[in-house]
Amino acid sequence: MPAVGWTQLANSNSGILSRPALQKKYPKRPAQGIKMTQAALHQLYESHIGKVSDKWEIYLDEYGRILNKYRNRPVRILEIGIQNGGSLEIWSRYFDDATKIIGCDINPDCARLSYADPRIRVIVGDANTSETYSSIIAESSAFDIIIEDGSHLSGDIIKSFCLYFPILMEGGTFIVEDLHCSYWSAFDGGLFHPYSSISFFKLLADVVNFEHWGISSRDRLSLLSGILNHYGCNISPAALAEVRSVEFINSICVVRKQPAASNSLGRRIIAGQQELVVQGHGSLHGTQFHHDQVPKQQDNIWSTRALPPAETIEQTEMALRASQEALTKYEQEVLTKYEQEVLSLQRDLTSANKRMTTVESEKTALLQSKSWRFTAPIRWLARQARRLLR
Ligand SMILES: C[S@@+](CC[C@H](N)C(=O)[O-])C[C@H]1O[C@@H](n2cnc3c(N)ncnc32)[C@H](O)[C@@H]1O
Repeated sequence: MPAVGWTQLANSNSGILSRPALQKKYPKRPAQGIKMTQAALHQLYESHIGKVSDKWEIYLDEYGRILNKYRNRPVRILEIGIQNGGSLEIWSRYFDDATKIIGCDINPDCARLSYADPRIRVIVGDANTSETYSSIIAESSAFDIIIEDGSHLSGDIIKSFCLYFPILMEGGTFIVEDLHCSYWSAFDGGLFHPYSSISFFKLLADVVNFEHWGISSRDRLSLLSGILNHYGCNISPAALAEVRSVEFINSICVVRKQPAASNSLGRRIIAGQQELVVQGHGSLHGTQFHHDQVPKQQDNIWSTRALPPAETIEQTEMALRASQEALTKYEQEVLTKYEQEVLSLQRDLTSANKRMTTVESEKTALLQSKSWRFTAPIRWLARQARRLLR
């Protein structure tokens, strides 16, 4: 569970509608258990009895718009992070014709969740391990809708996207919930965090516009490689070319998948005949977009830099920190070396002083000795002799 508990968040949000207000806005169906095939997701949530699900109101509003097209189709749904498992029951009612509704949760207690509906299956395990991935694809090798609502840690979200977006069907939708966590340090986030989940999806929006970058030397993957390396995950350039759109809503990111070829600008469509302001459009009708038309950006420093700015700042700051640490270490080494030399010189001085004291006392002892006094006349004669010889 995240450091900031879900319940804590829900309780702390004074803006959320009270249950009576919600009931007024989305009146309950008269009786539980009635088939509510076309009921709005809000209504299904409001009338739900059974296992608990916990989602913000705006998600339900948006899901109505985003997921409505799948309602009468034999869709396969994967939800990563199910907690009490109530959302799976609601999906089973919202998507009447769904063929598979797979929930995955790392919490071993989720093994206690059981469902009468045979389409619903629960896989217990970390969604980002190869074992759990294998168990999930054993249930269904592809999905039409994937909802990521697991740990909300940036690394986990990015890894799940890399792992499960490739098994999303063409025409499928990948939704990431609770992206507000990507602004919080406890989830490896922060407004300008280079490796937050929202930074990843912002870069994915650039990937959508790859054909307009005007730099032949880089591919889609190169833009994401810093973040992917940071979390040790990968995704193929082919899968990235299938990203049709990246949509941001408060705390949700919706990524749609379409065949790569259909994601290009395509043909130019010129409609009408009157050109009262700018002429010459007629001949453009039906011409195909080609990347050769894009102005080359090899001299644009904002296009050719190796890394996105946030990552450059992070790398520069890391390099700065490393050189500051190296400098402090060097200063310490030099200081230690000189301190040792000073200590050694002090020891030499002390022993020289001791030696001098010994010599002084030996000299005093000699001058006071009898032999020195008895030999004094001899030394006097020797001095006189030296003077006469000069
Ligand atoms: C916010 S709750 C899910 C709420 C649920 N989707 C709903 O609508 O009520 C998050 C869940 O994700 C699970 N989770 C956390 N990390 C996970 C991971 N790596 N793989 C699978 N589940 C994970 C947690 O155990 C927790 O039950």
